[in-house]
Amino acid sequence: MSESPAVSFHKSVSAETGTVVVLTDETLTFGAETGGLGIADLVRKAAGIAEYKGKALAVLDLLAPAGLSFDRLVVVGLGAAEELVEGDWSRLGGTILGTLRKGEQATLLAERPDGTPISGDQLADIGLGAVLRAYSFDRYKSGRNNKDSKEGKNGDNGKASKGAVKLDIVAGESSKAKKAWVARSAIAEGAILARELVNEPANVLGPVEFADKAAELAALGVTIETLTEKQMKKLGMRALLGVAQGSVRPPRLVAMHWNGSKSKDSKDGKDKPVAFVGKGVVFDTGGISIKPAGGMEDMKGDMGGAAAVVGLMHALASRKAKANVVGIIGLVENMPDGNAQRPGDIVEAASGVTIEIINTDAEGRLVLADALWYAQKTYEPKVIVDLATLTGAIMVALGNDHAGMFANDDALATALSKAGEVTGEKVWRMPLGAAYDKMIESKFADIKNTGGRYGGSITAAQFLKRFVDDGVAWAHLDIAGTAMGSPQSEINRSWASGWGVRILDRLVADNYEG
Ligand code: BES
Ligand code: MN
Ligand code: ZN
Repeated sequence: MSESPAVSFHKSVSAETGTVVVLTDETLTFGAETGGLGIADLVRKAAGIAEYKGKALAVLDLLAPAGLSFDRLVVVGLGAAEELVEGDWSRLGGTILGTLRKGEQATLLAERPDGTPISGDQLADIGLGAVLRAYSFDRYKSGRNNKDSKEGKNGDNGKASKGAVKLDIVAGESSKAKKAWVARSAIAEGAILARELVNEPANVLGPVEFADKAAELAALGVTIETLTEKQMKKLGMRALLGVAQGSVRPPRLVAMHWNGSKSKDSKDGKDKPVAFVGKGVVFDTGGISIKPAGGMEDMKGDMGGAAAVVGLMHALASRKAKANVVGIIGLVENMPDGNAQRPGDIVEAASGVTIEIINTDAEGRLVLADALWYAQKTYEPKVIVDLATLTGAIMVALGNDHAGMFANDDALATALSKAGEVTGEKVWRMPLGAAYDKMIESKFADIKNTGGRYGGSITAAQFLKRFVDDGVAWAHLDIAGTAMGSPQSEINRSWASGWGVRILDRLVADNYEG
């Protein structure tokens, strides 16, 4: 993993050396502090040459600016500053970080061109974006076999390696920013943890190793309970176990409980937790209904839902969220072998529902069926949100920019949509209904595990809904298009995005804390 940048907040500039980053708008105006640098004429001239218009996130880079004491002046467009939400400030931070080289020291004069202050929360969001942008997964880049690299082991393919970037953010609201940063850096760590888990190959992270990583949250005060194969057998979790039986690596189910809520009164139901349930298929070959070879390597990321849940629990515990939250992840490997599950097999889930297996590649819903059941019978949650890289069909429907959202509760759907808009991890609500539910009726069992090609993400969601008890508010997020392989953004250069940590942290903060 790359070194995290050292982000810090200051009331005033300590020394005008290194790189100075300033913010502007489409009139190429600067705030008062920035104006004091005497850069206006220089920037106007350079902007004319470069046809720089100060548009949102556009960068103008001036090296060795004449007559100034520092090495480099980076001008970044802020866009319509009144309308910026959390995610926009993070994209700004990511853009700024992206202009810096390793080891570079930069000072950001965080000031709006119109002189109004940038709030502590917004400054912290800039820092969050910078930390997320700096992440890269390079653990397995030994550098030893690269003739073009002059740097040896830690070289970044020939680029200088001089440690982490140092970003000093200078702003009037710096003391508020420092306070807000405690929570924001916890979120950054959680998202990066999720990325790490998704990026790691399946030979390194099997179900047991993944469970061990989740168990490390105990150090933050999270209560961990891990179920072994034997314990799951006893509970009758045959939907999950059916998927796992083709692998030589045994499955695990991990429950992570963070009880940060002040209210301990069980009579009013206020202490009932919010549950997050994640699909953790450490590798999905498809099983006997095997997938084509092309691109199958991406299926090491089929635990993106579980990774987001672990990253979220890490974030909530590190920032000591005042909420009662439980994370449940079902960890299996979907492999074809002599003992593997077959199409036509009928399994009974722990809830008692019988399932005809039509396609062994529709395995995520089988894992979630038992994980959802376990979450409800153990913790009686008032709300459940599950996350899963569940269907290719959701990518056909929505591409990479929105996760698919299915919900049985309008208030929860609205809260998730809002959290998504604010953080930039966006969701798009998809329909549920009796006509879709009918598509998973089986000739032989209660339901079957696929509903045909049409509406593939919806029938998958209907399947999950069969395992949600009446009265529980539930949402399912299909993150197959957003968890990995999505286009690079201002705040992510890695294959894994860590999608889910930011939207769900915001959901908890806005709805279930205090
Ligand atoms: N893990 C896949 C879905 C997936 C595909 C995630 C591509 C990320 C990228 C899931 O287990 C799967 O195989 N789904 C099938 C379901 C089908 C057999 C009903 C699919 O989408 O094709
Ligand atoms: Mn599959
Ligand atoms: Zn899968």
